[in-house]
Amino acid sequence: MFATRNAIKVAARSFSTGVPLQSKVAVLGAAGGIGQPLSLLLKANPRVTSLGLYDIVNTPGVAADVGHVNTLSEVNGYTAKDKDGLEKALKGAELVVIPAGVPRKPGMTRDDLFNTNASIVRDLTQACAKFCPEAKLLIISNPVNSTVPIATEVFKKAGVYDPKRIFGVTSLDLVRASRFIGDKVGKITDVPVVGGHAGVTIIPLFSQVKGLELSKEERDSLTHRVQFGGDEVVKAKDGTGSATLSMAYAGARFADSLLRAGAGEEVLEWAFIRTSLFEKEGLDFFSTYIKLDKNGVKEILPLPESISEYEKELVQKAIPELKKSETKGTSFVASK
Ligand code: NAD
Ligand code: LMR
Repeated sequence: MFATRNAIKVAARSFSTGVPLQSKVAVLGAAGGIGQPLSLLLKANPRVTSLGLYDIVNTPGVAADVGHVNTLSEVNGYTAKDKDGLEKALKGAELVVIPAGVPRKPGMTRDDLFNTNASIVRDLTQACAKFCPEAKLLIISNPVNSTVPIATEVFKKAGVYDPKRIFGVTSLDLVRASRFIGDKVGKITDVPVVGGHAGVTIIPLFSQVKGLELSKEERDSLTHRVQFGGDEVVKAKDGTGSATLSMAYAGARFADSLLRAGAGEEVLEWAFIRTSLFEKEGLDFFSTYIKLDKNGVKEILPLPESISEYEKELVQKAIPELKKSETKGTSFVASK
C-alpha cells in the first residue's frame, strides 16, 4: 500500500498508450476520525494523483499535514466556509469517499445515527450528483443499510443515477472476518462477507474458506464476533467514538480496488449495492460478490450454491431487517 521510491516515479500512471491516468479522490468528512487516516492512506497510494479533502471544519490543517507526505499527488483542503469549497473538492473526482457524520456511543445501534446522518449524506450526495455525477461513490457513513438507499434516491431525483457507481463500504466486515479466523488458521485468509452492515445483517461465509473446519461452537462465536465487531470497538473507546483506524484501512483497500479496476484490471470485491438478487423478496440492496471494471460494477454474482444451511438461514433472517432500513432511507428522500 505504501509508496516506494519506484512507486513515486510512476505516480503519473499511464496505459501503454502513454496517456497519463489522472485519479482524483475526494474525501467528505476528511477531518474526522476516519477521514484523517483514510486521507493519509490515499496519499500514500501511488494510484491517486489528486486528493480533494472536504469537511465542515479543520480541513486546511489536515491537507497541509498530509500534503507533506512525499508522493507526487497534490492535496487540497476545503471547509464549508470556502467559497465553492465542496464543488472544488468534488470537481473531476473519479472516486468520492464519504465518512461524514456522527459515530456511535456505547448502547447505541447504527440506526440511532439515522436522524443526524441521513441529512448529511443526502446533502453531500446532492452535491456529488451536481458536481461529479460520473464519480463512484463509496459510502461509509452509518447506517450504511439506509444511507446507500438515500444516495440512490438523491441520484435518481437528479436524473444521474447509475447503480454501477454507488457502493456501501462493507470492507471492514471482510477485514474483521479475515483477521478473526487468522488466529485460528495461523495465516491471513480472505472470508467473503455478504448481506448488510449492521448486526445480524452481516453474514460471514466461513463455508467458502477452503480447508477451514469449524465446530458448531466456533462457527457461532466467530459469526457473532464478525456481526458485532463494531460494538467491541465502541465499547473499548468508551464514548469517544467507533472504529476509525481499521475503517480507514478497509476504506483505502476498497478505494484501491476501484482504482485498479479503473485502470483496466478486473477485480473481485464485496460491497452493499443495488441488485435484483432478492427482487422476489422485495429487497433492492444487498452486499454480495461483485466484479469491478472501469465503469464500477461489471457483474453481480449470486451467492455460491455451496453456502451452508446455517448461512442460508442467516440470509433469511437478514432480509426483513434490510428491508426496514432500505424503506427508511428511501422514504426519507421521498418525503422531502
Ligand atoms: P467523526 O465524528 O470522527 O468524523 C466525522 C466527520 O464528519 C467530522 O470531522 C465532521 O466535521 C464531519 N462532518 C459532519 N457533517 C459534515 C458535512 N455535512 N460535510 C462534511 N463533513 C461533515 O466520525 P468517524 O469516527 O470518522 O465516523 C464517521 C462515520 O462513519 C460514522 O457515521 C460512523 O458510524 C461511520 N463508520 C462506518 C463504518 C463502516 O464500516 N461503514 C465503520 C466505522 C465508522
Ligand atoms: C463498525 O462496524 O465498526 C462501524 O459500523 C462503526 C460502528 O458503529 O460500529
